[in-house]
Amino acid sequence: MGEQRVALVTGGAVGIGAGISERLAADGFEVIVTGRRAGVAAEMAERIGGRSLAFDVSDHAATVAAIQGAGRIDVLVNNAGWDHFDWFTDLPYETMRKLVAINLEGVLSCTQAALPSMQEHRWGRVITIGSEAGRIGSKGNAVYAACKAAAVGFSMSIARENARFGITANVVAPGPIETPLLREMTPHAIEVVTNQTQMKRLGTPEECAAAVSYLASEAAGYVTGEVLAVSGGMHLGG
Ligand SMILES: NC(=O)c1ccc[n+]([C@@H]2O[C@H](COP(=O)([O-])OP(=O)(O)OC[C@H]3O[C@@H](n4cnc5c(N)ncnc54)[C@H](OP(=O)(O)O)[C@@H]3O)[C@@H](O)[C@H]2O)c1
Repeated sequence: MGEQRVALVTGGAVGIGAGISERLAADGFEVIVTGRRAGVAAEMAERIGGRSLAFDVSDHAATVAAIQGAGRIDVLVNNAGWDHFDWFTDLPYETMRKLVAINLEGVLSCTQAALPSMQEHRWGRVITIGSEAGRIGSKGNAVYAACKAAAVGFSMSIARENARFGITANVVAPGPIETPLLREMTPHAIEVVTNQTQMKRLGTPEECAAAVSYLASEAAGYVTGEVLAVSGGMHLGG
């Protein structure tokens, strides 16, 4: 077997990210768990035998310094995200800026920092956690949805620019998944989104992690510029 591959998972200690960190460690990757809360990230890293880093993805300089200081990165999972629910007309400008800074600029900064290592090793996977909100929209979620839609155009462009280096770029688009982020919604809103799925249930972090595991694998080397929804068929409507 060759050298152990390294996967960096932003927001990798909580919710969907925790599922992804655990799964990629089980798949044989050395996992770098990141988050804003150093202790929480370190605890998860210890549990799965990986490393941890603490930085805020909305701080470009700190993000680039942390990721480039981490050494070799083969797989980047852009998972860190944040949501705030409000009608768009009521959304304060500062909140709008924060949503864009974390959900879109964070993806750009992490990807720009991680790509040189993948290009050098002529192999890589950029996997961004989008959302069904980016495809079908979501009430009270307009800026978040805009960022998630933008992540698709970004990922497709990264796929085009980096195929020559053996690097793929794909999006995993979850529907409603049982995590701390989802629990920010009211019980009524959770019931509404659950009913929008064909499966009539919430998804799990493990189900999202299985999609990431596939896209990170050798077997997915011919899959790029794709959006894989893990949403119980939410986009089908009806
Ligand atoms: N849950 C859902 O229903 C759902 C649906 C569609 C898409 N998604 C997407 O899936 C991803 C994970 O969501 P989740 O539900 O697992 O969320 P979560 O439970 O709220 O966890 C969010 C993670 O992101 C990290 N994070 C947040 N802001 C950050 C920042 N500024 N810098 C660095 N790390 C930051 C958090 O770490 P710290 O707490 O340490 O900062 C935490 O680990 C997000 O991209 C989200 O948009 C979720």
